[in-house]
Parts: sequence; C-alpha cells; structure tokens
Amino acid sequence: MKKLVLFFMAMVFSGALLAESPNDPEKKAFIDDLLAKMSLKEKVGQLRLISVGGDLTLDKALEQIEAGEIGGIFNTVVEPDLTNMQDRALKTPNKIPLLFGFDIIHGHRTVFPINLGIAATWDRNAIGKAAEVSADEATSDGLNITWAPMVDITRDPRWGRVSEGFGEDPYLTSEAGRIFVEKMQKQILSDKKSLVTTVKHFALYGAVEAGREYNSADMSERKMFQEYLVPYKAAIDAGSKAVMVSLISVNGIPATGNHWLLTEVLRNQWHFDGVVISDHGAIRELINHGVASDAKDAVRVAIKAGIDVSMNDEYFLKFIPELVNEGVLTESEINNACRHVLELKYDMGLFKDPYRNLDPKLDIDTMFADNRLHREEARDVARRSIVLLKNKNKVLPLAKNKKVAVIGPLADSKRDILGSWSGAGRSKLAVTPLEGIQKVAQKADLISYAFGANLSEDQQLYKFLNLYEMTTKFDERPADKMIAEAVAKAKKADVVVAFVGEAEGMAHESSSRTDLSLQASQKRLIKALKATRKPLVIVLMNGRPLTLTEEYQQADAMLETWFLGTEGGNAIADVLYGDYNPSGKLPMTFPDNVGQIPIYYSHLNTGRPHGTENMGKYTTSYFDSPNEPLFPFGFGLSYTNFTTNYSLSSNKMTKDGEIVVTVNVENIGDRTGVHTVQLYLQDVTASVSRPVKELIGFENISLKPLEKGEVKFVIKPEMLKFWNDKMQYVAEPGQFNVFVGSDSTTEDKQTFTLLDK
Ligand code: NOJ
Repeated sequence: MKKLVLFFMAMVFSGALLAESPNDPEKKAFIDDLLAKMSLKEKVGQLRLISVGGDLTLDKALEQIEAGEIGGIFNTVVEPDLTNMQDRALKTPNKIPLLFGFDIIHGHRTVFPINLGIAATWDRNAIGKAAEVSADEATSDGLNITWAPMVDITRDPRWGRVSEGFGEDPYLTSEAGRIFVEKMQKQILSDKKSLVTTVKHFALYGAVEAGREYNSADMSERKMFQEYLVPYKAAIDAGSKAVMVSLISVNGIPATGNHWLLTEVLRNQWHFDGVVISDHGAIRELINHGVASDAKDAVRVAIKAGIDVSMNDEYFLKFIPELVNEGVLTESEINNACRHVLELKYDMGLFKDPYRNLDPKLDIDTMFADNRLHREEARDVARRSIVLLKNKNKVLPLAKNKKVAVIGPLADSKRDILGSWSGAGRSKLAVTPLEGIQKVAQKADLISYAFGANLSEDQQLYKFLNLYEMTTKFDERPADKMIAEAVAKAKKADVVVAFVGEAEGMAHESSSRTDLSLQASQKRLIKALKATRKPLVIVLMNGRPLTLTEEYQQADAMLETWFLGTEGGNAIADVLYGDYNPSGKLPMTFPDNVGQIPIYYSHLNTGRPHGTENMGKYTTSYFDSPNEPLFPFGFGLSYTNFTTNYSLSSNKMTKDGEIVVTVNVENIGDRTGVHTVQLYLQDVTASVSRPVKELIGFENISLKPLEKGEVKFVIKPEMLKFWNDKMQYVAEPGQFNVFVGSDSTTEDKQTFTLLDK
C-alpha cells in the first residue's frame, strides 16, 4: 500500500526566504554610493526596458545604451548581440550592467504545453519540470529575467489569454505560480541558473469585462482579496522579485496609475520590495484611459502610483528630468524606483559578473536541437496535460495494428502545436501528431492522412491570424474536394482520429472571441467523418475552453490536448495508443454554451438554488439552457477506474487544532493509472456568503491494477480563513463541509465543526 502524507496550508504560503537579505549593509553602502554618483539622466535610464526592433535598430539601441539611457533589454535572444550590448553598458560612467528579459511563458527553446495545459497536469512535479527546464535554457541563452509566471485567474474563455494562465481556481493557480517562481528564480539570485521572475499581470487582467481584450475589470474588494489577488500574492511570497502591471483599469483606475494597487496593497500591505514594471507601452495608454492629459502627465501619474520601470516607452527619458526640475516629481521618488532596480541587479550578482551565461560562440540551434533530456521532460509533461473527455466503448487506447485515418487541419501543423508565446521555440523541431502516430503504429502503411478542411473558410480570420507573420496557411482546394479525400481515407480505416480546434494565434494576446464553437469548416468535416460510421476520436487542439456539445455527441472518444509544445505529437501518440494512461484534469470549466459565461465551480449559492427538488420557475436558472457546464472544473477520465472513500480524524476542530483527511484509493481497472484526489471545502454559515465549494488540496497517486493506496490531507484553521463582513481575514467558528472526489461536482461530503476555542 502506498502512503502519501501531505500537509497543506491552502492559500497560506510560507514564503521562500531568499538568501539575499534586504538589510545587507554592504549592499546598502554600495547602492547609496552608486546613487550618489549617478546623474538624474542615468537614473532614468535604469527605469527603461527597451525592445530592439522596428524603428529602434540595434545600432541605435547600442548608442542609447552607451549614453546610459537604457537599463534593460527584452526580446533579444542572440548572444553576440547581448554581449555587444553589455559591452556598451559597461562603458557608461558607472558601468551598470543591463537586464536581459524575454517572455518565457511555457518553455524556451524546448516548448512545453501552454500553461492551461501545464495546469491540467495537476502535478506539482510536472509544473516544476516545465519551469526548471525553461529557466535552464533561458539562462543558457544569456537571459536573466522573464515576464512570467502569468497567474491571472480566468473564468471567461472568450478572453484569448486564458491559454497563458493556469485557469479559474485561486489555489491551483497559486500553487503553479509559486512553483514557477521557486524553480525559475531559485533561492539565490546570483545562482548562474537563476532567472528572475516577473509575476503578472497585476492585477485582475483575467477579469476583463465580457472577455474583451484590454477591457476594464470592476470587482468588490472582498472578491479581489479572496480570489483574484491570491495567486499574485502567492508568487510574491515565494520570492518573485518583479511584478508586471496589467494594462487594464481596476475599479475605474488604470492599474498603471493605480496608487492603491501598486503602493497601498503591493508595497505597504504585502511588503513587496522588488521591481514594479509597467506593461508594453502602458504609460502613454494612460492618456487613452483618460487619467492623464498628455504624455508628460502620464509619466507623473505612473511614477506617483508606484511604477518603477517602463516597458518600451520613450516618455520616462523625455519627461522625468523635466518633471523633477519643475518639482512635480522629487528626485527621491526617482531614487526610490532606481534603487529597486539596482538592488535587483546587485542581488543577481550582475555587478560582479555582467556577462553571466553569455557565450557569443554558442550555436543555439545545435545546442537545443538535440537536447534529449529536455525533450523527454517536455514529452512527459505534455502527456500528463492531456485530458480524456469521453471514451465510449473503450475506443481508446488504440491497438497498434489498427488502420488509422489521421485527419484534420491540425494533424500535421508544426507551428500550431507550439502554442502562443513560443517565440524562441523552433517549429521545425516540433513533432506533429501525425509524425508521433506514424512512429508508434506497428507498420507505416497502417496510417493514412488527409488535411480534410481549412481551419476556417473565413478569410477575415486568416487576415487577422497572419497580420504580422504568415503562419496559418490556407489550402486553396475546394472544401468539398478536401472533405471527399478525408472521407475516402476514413472509409478504408478501422478508426478515424480527427484533429480540430484553433490555430495558435486564436488563443493569444488580443484574440478574444464571442463564438467558442468550432469553425464551420471543421464542423462540416466532423459531420462527414461521423457519417462514415467509423469509430471517431476527436482530438482537440485549442487554447481555451470551447463549446463542444455537438462534437461531444458525435465523438466516440474525445481528448483535450491544448497546444502541447515541441513534443506534442509524441505525447498524443503515447496517450492514443495507451503507452501513457491519461491523467489530466480540466483547470477551467467548459461551458455548454457561450451564454453561461462566466461559469466557474466556486460560485456563491443563491437564495433560490436550482436543484432536482426545486426545479421550475423562480430558481437560479435559464429557461433555454442547462445550468450545468459541458465539463466541470477538475474533470478528466482515465483508461482505468478508481474508487475512493475517506474519513476525518475528528468532526471537531479546535482553534489551534487540525483535522486529518485520510483518503483510500483503489484502482479497480486493469491498467496502471494516476488518480488526482481533489479536496474541496465549504464554509456553511458565515458573516458573508461563501462559495458552494473551494479547492483546498490535491494530490496524485499512481496505482497498478487492483492496487490500493492512501492519501492524507491536513486541514488547519488557517485554511478556513476568509475576508469577513468587516474585511478581516479570519476563520469563523461553525460548520464546514469537506468534499473529496475526482472533479468539482463531487457530492461525497463529510462535516466538521470549528470550535471557538
Ligand atoms: C505585452 C504583454 O501583455 C505582456 O504579457 C508581455 O510580457 C509583454 N508584452 C512583453 O512581451
């Protein structure tokens, strides 16, 4: 029998103790001395992050660096260029080295699944591997800071950036964010493999109204502190040394100019002592937001609110000196911002080793093409990300001697499988599903392939996708001809595996959608394949929950594979053929239809709940749609079956006590598999309404056929705390329900009472 003893402190994060002490006298003396020597212009330079490209050619950037006008560079991954830039920075009077940043969201050269997929592993080791390998490759590439992790809570799949986050749940997202910080940044910033993390987008970016990109968010403070702010805090408590500010308005005040958010909450309440970075171009956007009259005013608003560093903005350089001369800003405000940057550079050891990891002779292509170990890690994380949504008559796994028709616009696309934010990845190295399947099948001629349909017949969509670069190709053949070819292949096969979903560019920044169904061209293809009466496996590749009610009916089996990264095709083949038994669980609710959005499991109850005993009018419901989603949060099937039962060590908890939840798990099927035990809690009666259920723990256990195992969780009073009617963070005595299960709909409930002593 396997035993796992787990001690969970949900939503309480001990906070990694960084080796660098904030009160190091040597550091203080060094920075005081440096600040005293720096000109105002040089200080302002430290507050500027610049991306080379467009009008700012490399030559121009080099000149600006040598003039002390730039403190950090991002978006460059060419080591000779980075070295050249650092040479120039060291020619400035005070020889202050540059930061080198990049968006390392889900892998670097070796691309891992998109973060929504990483979250679907519900596996702390897998999440850690993705973060660790990413940091390893990025630092080898000479980079020293990244704009990750993105921990925006996302409950509206219309928003394209749900693909970048870890889903709808504060606890799961906090765990992922914490692990990213620990594995990327590490304990000691001067460690050669440390990549400084920038938790983003502070705050509430995922709550944009109607899922429309860059829209505003308006939310009660209770909901913010209870749910949406929790993951940023977790990442900061884990030690993240930088924060990126969201582009949106938070309760009417743009985050970039929001003193309450950036100073009162972040600095004063949370004691954040790192660097606050605005998002791309956000300073000038304060004018559009209507809180600054012109660019100079926007600089004033941003600095006064608590921004330290601007990203790709010329206005700090242009206007800070003027504003200081006029007395609108004080030099001590600039010193304060500059000190944050210098302290970070000091802690990173850049003053001692500015060329850390920079080797201009390195040939990156050779270095990463054959990185077997990283690719194995990527394959393992990818297969753990896959969620089995349906498996009628055990269509899956496929026997390796079956004739398989591989169909669909995403079956052989090297670019799409990498997903968004994979700028340093190499699509030519990516393994497509077709390639993965061909490798596993017993004989090559068992596999046939047809493109089947364009991702869409909508030319406008193609224009949008290819606005900046041509990545999504349109097949000019008539749609009927492509479908006929696919149907012919399907008819000759034993089983059809159809790859449908989204182009990677459809689940990205600035890719909001109102219609979450498959494009008409893909629907036609599925319908035609279904008509062949061959067993139909639908493999989804997409970056957000889609509305799939029709496809769910049509499919015999259905797999959610997100965008799985470099090793995606191999991982899909592992699952299709049963070399890996799927274990992923959804980190976001999949709605039945768009009208249900926002839909998430941890909602409040209403005075008129909708239930089986209480149907009909005047309850919380729609008359034209079910209340239930298509797939709930936490859902995912396996090729085997598990049973669980559990007990509580007591039904009473004292103020300083704890309750141990012992869960017995048994694999009652005939395959080894991983089961994720999910632990939910409900505070039944409190001074404010509490959610019907909240995730407070999860753990995986791998069991052989008929093997039994045990998982333990420890519930402590700290985990029962919430923001009460007076906005105090407390646990209120009374009844609590515990739920254990394999997804958020579990009704396997037990009860305990928190005593007031
Ligand atoms: C804008 C995006 O909002 C942010 O997430 C990203 O880190 C920056 N651009 C830099 O690429």
